Amino acid sequence: MDALSDQLYERLFTRFLETRRMFPDDIAELKQKLVAMLANGVDLLMDRENFQAACRGLGLRHVGYGTKTDHYAILGAILIDSLGAVAGPDFTPEELGVWTQFYLLVAQEMIIGSRQTSSEPLLM
Ligand code: HEM
Repeated sequence: MDALSDQLYERLFTRFLETRRMFPDDIAELKQKLVAMLANGVDLLMDRENFQAACRGLGLRHVGYGTKTDHYAILGAILIDSLGAVAGPDFTPEELGVWTQFYLLVAQEMIIGSRQTSSEPLLM
């Protein structure tokens, strides 16, 4: 998972330098949070209502970080590339498909959350 988050941010900042200034100088903690969230995806999904509220809350906070809707597609493409790079030959197309679907689901809820007003109740 460490290798994955290293790849992810390295690729993001190499391809889209403009996003570097949105992040704090030290992103060590952030790397852990992002990957922990993705790694706990299945647990999160089991609790559908919480999952939705958590993702929407996260999306709303991302507006404050300067994240635009377009950035989600960019990060999604980079995530899939990074997974392919770290996972090696054991990574099946099916597994890649599951990760892609999960990312899309989280991103979709985050985008919905980004359009909500902060007066609505949100978890996380
Ligand atoms: C599914 C997609 C994403 C997930 C799961 C995710 C997850 C997270 C998490 C868990 C944090 C920690 C802070 C918090 O909980 O509010 C965070 C911070 C952050 N994310 Fe994301 N993120 C996603 C997409 C993006 C995108 C597309 C961008 C824009 C390039 C972005 C930019 C940032 C920035 C700039 C911060 C941190 C700001 C700070 O600490 O000052 N994220 N993200």
